[in-house]
Amino acid sequence: MQIDIRPMVLPAHPDEDGPAGDEFRLAHAYNERSNAERYGEGLYVNTPVEFLASLQPNADYRLDRLHAWDGDRLVGIITVYSNLLDSTDVVEAQPELSSELSAAEQHELAEALTERAHELAAAAGRSTVIMSTVGAAEGAVTATSGFGGADPAHPEAAPLVRRGYALEQVYRVSVAELADLPDLDARLVAAAAGAPAYELVRWIGGTPAEHRPAMRTLYERMSTDAPIGNLAWEEEVWDEPRLAEFERTVQAGGRTLLTVAARERSTGELGGFSTLILPLSGATARQHDTLVTKPHRGHGLGMLMKLDNLVRLRELRPELVRVVTWNAEENRPMLAVNEASGFAPVAYEAQWQWKAER
Ligand SMILES: CC(C)(COP(=O)(O)OP(=O)(O)OC[C@H]1O[C@@H](n2cnc3c(N)ncnc32)[C@H](O)[C@@H]1OP(=O)(O)O)[C@@H](O)C(=O)NCCC(=O)NCCS
Repeated sequence: MQIDIRPMVLPAHPDEDGPAGDEFRLAHAYNERSNAERYGEGLYVNTPVEFLASLQPNADYRLDRLHAWDGDRLVGIITVYSNLLDSTDVVEAQPELSSELSAAEQHELAEALTERAHELAAAAGRSTVIMSTVGAAEGAVTATSGFGGADPAHPEAAPLVRRGYALEQVYRVSVAELADLPDLDARLVAAAAGAPAYELVRWIGGTPAEHRPAMRTLYERMSTDAPIGNLAWEEEVWDEPRLAEFERTVQAGGRTLLTVAARERSTGELGGFSTLILPLSGATARQHDTLVTKPHRGHGLGMLMKLDNLVRLRELRPELVRVVTWNAEENRPMLAVNEASGFAPVAYEAQWQWKAER
């Protein structure tokens, strides 16, 4: 196989005539197929507008996307993110290999794509590479977190094992079907009764001015309180421009950000929040963050906020009949809430890390 790997050229809009538009449409179809293979049919779908928006430059991270061609056949992609505000020593990459290739071709291509990610890291002077590949509940290699594993012989993983990557963490991808929660309203009432010292505040889209300082702090806590194993992610600092850029990016292409926060009645303090991202099409909403800060834990606020979001989702967008979420396999407190509200695993993702010797 003669592989040619080159940066993707973005069109101005999804219907643009000419080579950039043609490449974009191929890439969109490829992305839809690879998401279906990775997570299941219909679980992660993007309209062309959403997909193009997700590839746009951003103030928080640089995005490099390389396409691998066998003649005029798109056979592989690697997407490389380089954070610009923190974790500036890290590049994060995800390969997507065409399932139409033979196993030998997949191995050859994964090697070439991994090499290109390392070239990008070296050129940017970044010494840590985090790669996301197919993972498993249990595998021949266990994550250093102690939870979840991966197959080191998988074509995506083999080039990483050869380079001395460590499997640090495994994410569980789980789905809840709203139809399986006929008692949702009763559950929500019970959860609210268990946390009488709190009231919920809700908004759609950008955070209202009165909650912006508190939400910036809560987003910062997400980066320190959710387990990251040995991965080299740094604590994040969220100033006002960062919050605004996040809200713009996450809603680019027409998606909706749905937020609920728990406010302590006596102090007015926001003790936690939970967010959903509502895509334009398909039937699956995406869970984004959920957090309760340490002083406010133990009142079932995580469950209360998740149930409230599900009820609101059902009212606002009834065609979105399920929710998908990503959780670290060792994150027992979050998994306990999710399992109790109907989430069941559909896939696993392995997080491998390589550090240059200094
Ligand atoms: C997941 C999370 C929201 C649950 O918080 P919560 O709703 O307050 O949890 P619960 O009320 O169900 O807590 C039940 C018990 O577990 C304890 N607990 C909750 N989260 C805990 C944690 N992360 N570590 C240790 N103990 C925890 C509570 O203190 C409580 O103990 P108690 O019964 O002795 O009072 C919270 O742990 C959290 O914010 N974690 C960090 C952020 C995160 O990982 N988000 C998910 C990313 S995918």
